Amino acid sequence: LRNSFAPRAEKRNQRFENRLQPQASSFKVAVLGAAGGIGQPLALLIKMSPLVSALHLYDIANVKGVAADLSHCNTPSQVLDFTGASELANSLKGVDAVVIPAGVPRKPGMTRDDLFNINASIVKNLIEAVADNCPDAFIHIISNPVNSTVPIAAEVLKQKGVYDPKKLFGVTTLDVVRANTFVAQKKNLKLIDLDVPVVGGHAGITILPLLSKTKPSVSFTDEEVEQLTVRIQNAGTEVVEAKAGAGSATLSMAYAAARFVESSLRALDGDADVYECSYVQSELTELPFFASRVKLGKNGVEAIISSDLQGLTEYETKALEALKPELKASIEKGIAFAHKQP
Ligand code: NAD
Ligand code: LMR
Repeated sequence: LRNSFAPRAEKRNQRFENRLQPQASSFKVAVLGAAGGIGQPLALLIKMSPLVSALHLYDIANVKGVAADLSHCNTPSQVLDFTGASELANSLKGVDAVVIPAGVPRKPGMTRDDLFNINASIVKNLIEAVADNCPDAFIHIISNPVNSTVPIAAEVLKQKGVYDPKKLFGVTTLDVVRANTFVAQKKNLKLIDLDVPVVGGHAGITILPLLSKTKPSVSFTDEEVEQLTVRIQNAGTEVVEAKAGAGSATLSMAYAAARFVESSLRALDGDADVYECSYVQSELTELPFFASRVKLGKNGVEAIISSDLQGLTEYETKALEALKPELKASIEKGIAFAHKQP
């Protein structure tokens, strides 16, 4: 029960009870990059959702075994495997949500932007197929650098004439999950009720936890704010270094993405009270993409929550201004890539 994904205890209890009752599960979800370090545990967690009727697992290799293995779990969804470019279109037909953890992860010493050269093309190709086969689906992008891959996806969808900014999400949930965990540890709080919004982007200083907006309200010393902010910003690197060349965060990422996908499906299912932080097209700042809390509904982003950016502390205001040039450059790099490709 305590390991469910929802931020609020009440919702958690309610959803767990739902799992024990007969319920029509109806949504189809595709995972692209499903045989990878994130893809496998993410597929397992999505297989546990009572809201899912079909789970389409796509990868360029090794996905058959993952699907065979997963299909033995006695949860309602049917698991189908799709291998290689010739099966990509079929993996996407009729799906309500697509999750993309395809691409290479960092090694020690690398930035997320160092992954651009490989992952930009992977995301571009996958999004072209999404545009052709399930243009109405919610699209969740995990592949790094998220600050650039989301703008790439937006441009590709525009070129295909099917861009709906309300349905394109950069998955930054892991930053929130980490912020909640680290704050709870430092302040000895009950994790289950804690909610720290994280805004900006998903790389280094562009990750900005708004500790002053923590709910329930928590007071921090200046030193605690500095330590927590830096730890949350460097948490990905913490894992990359601990894995020492074997990749980056996979299990916590799968947990975070499963939470976000579950939130999307709850919104699609008509739940009127679904909020998550996500990197989306936004008018909250002068930047065209920005992560913030959003309200999710049947059509995707129903509202971008602006109140989190009001009444920031001096530390947060400075950090917000400091992150803008880097985030702007990453967005522009993604847009330029999408335009220069044939
Ligand atoms: P991984 O190497 O373990 O798995 C990647 C998978 O993608 C592999 O199975 C590979 O075969 C597959 N793949 C490669 N090219 C593909 C293509 N064209 N089509 C479909 N599948 C393809 O890597 P991982 O640890 O799972 O990480 C995946 C990505 O997620 C990386 O870019 C990483 O940086 C990113 N990531 C993002 C976050 C976040 O918070 N958004 C967190 C962790 C990792
Ligand atoms: C993370 O935050 O863990 C991911 O973006 C992976 C990485 O490269 O740090």
